Amino acid sequence: MTYQESDYILSPETQDEEVAERSLRPLALDEFVGQGPVKERLSIYIQAADQRKEALDHVLLYGPPGLGKTTLAHIISQELGVSIRVTSGPAIERPGDLAAILTNLAPHDVLFIDEIHRLHRSVEEILYPAMEDFALDIVIGKGPSARSLRLELAPFTLVGATTRAGSLTSPLRDRFGVVMRLEYYSPAELAYIIQRTARILEVQVEEESALELARRSRGTPRVANRLLRRLRDFAQVKADGVISLSVAREGLAMMEVDEMGLDQNDHRLLRALVEKYDGGPVGVETLAAALSEEAQTVEEVYEPFLIQQGFLQRTPRGRMATRLTYQHLNLTPPPDSDQQLALFENDVEEPPNDE
Ligand SMILES: Nc1ncnc2c1ncn2[C@@H]1O[C@H](COP(=O)(O)OP(=O)(O)OP(=O)(O)O)[C@@H](O)[C@H]1O
Ligand SMILES: [Mg+2]
Repeated sequence: MTYQESDYILSPETQDEEVAERSLRPLALDEFVGQGPVKERLSIYIQAADQRKEALDHVLLYGPPGLGKTTLAHIISQELGVSIRVTSGPAIERPGDLAAILTNLAPHDVLFIDEIHRLHRSVEEILYPAMEDFALDIVIGKGPSARSLRLELAPFTLVGATTRAGSLTSPLRDRFGVVMRLEYYSPAELAYIIQRTARILEVQVEEESALELARRSRGTPRVANRLLRRLRDFAQVKADGVISLSVAREGLAMMEVDEMGLDQNDHRLLRALVEKYDGGPVGVETLAAALSEEAQTVEEVYEPFLIQQGFLQRTPRGRMATRLTYQHLNLTPPPDSDQQLALFENDVEEPPNDE
């Protein structure tokens, strides 16, 4: 694989260095910036469960990487005053592994399963009665003499996280009482998160630089925190350690992050769309092949932000450029495109349905 600085900088996925990410995580709902509706609802459900002395209903959190799903799972257990057991879909290989985890939970504990859409089918089936009746159905023996045994579990809360709510099977999805989608953050919210992180990292960031950085962080706290770390390096070596607006701009230019937070990969994608396919519509497989990328990477990593910002449209016929795409790349749209673009304007595919 070729290494590209910008790949690393703007990837919303966790990097090794960010094991240190943990120390940046807010621990209480009050400290968690943004996601107003999600916080409000969670806070009510948590209080209600607490008053009834019951386990909180199962919670499914979904949305693009780096928006705070894992952070929220930890906050939920913290606010409930219970322990959290953390695992992930692909890590649970056999039904027995999950059974062992479940039988070890204390009453009202949180079980956090990250990437829950990647659970093995046989494991998932154990989860159904566990979620619904707090019970495990165990089969003892084989053939005609096999007996089924029901084992009671302590009531617990399953918190599932996924970037692909659409890939969840419906029986699993239906067993979550609370389903919540995390949204991209506004620049103001990100600026606030950046200042919070700056205090923890003990680096000084001027207010306007925080906002500049926020605008270029793709609405994603993880990206904001990563850019901040790199600018801290830049300020330390090239300036007096303070992240002023000029330091921020220079640093970001060096990392090839543009004013909208798009990097070389985004530019490559948009250019391919416009230059090779006349602005589309073109299928995601074709587009991905032109970029030598996996269709899944294009769909999950590059596209969500581009779509949200209006640089790309997902239509039933394929991906299409928008007026903004041409504007941003400093290109003139083809003469008939106004008509064409208008035609597809209301054609946007909805994200997987919400609650
Ligand atoms: N609302 C927030 N306020 C402050 N910091 C946040 C917030 N949301 C996320 N962060 C920061 O962003 C980083 C990434 O968040 P987190 O790991 O929870 O994302 P995620 O949605 O679980 O991502 P993934 O899908 O990759 O697992 C965390 O280190 C945390 O510090
Ligand atoms: Mg996570």
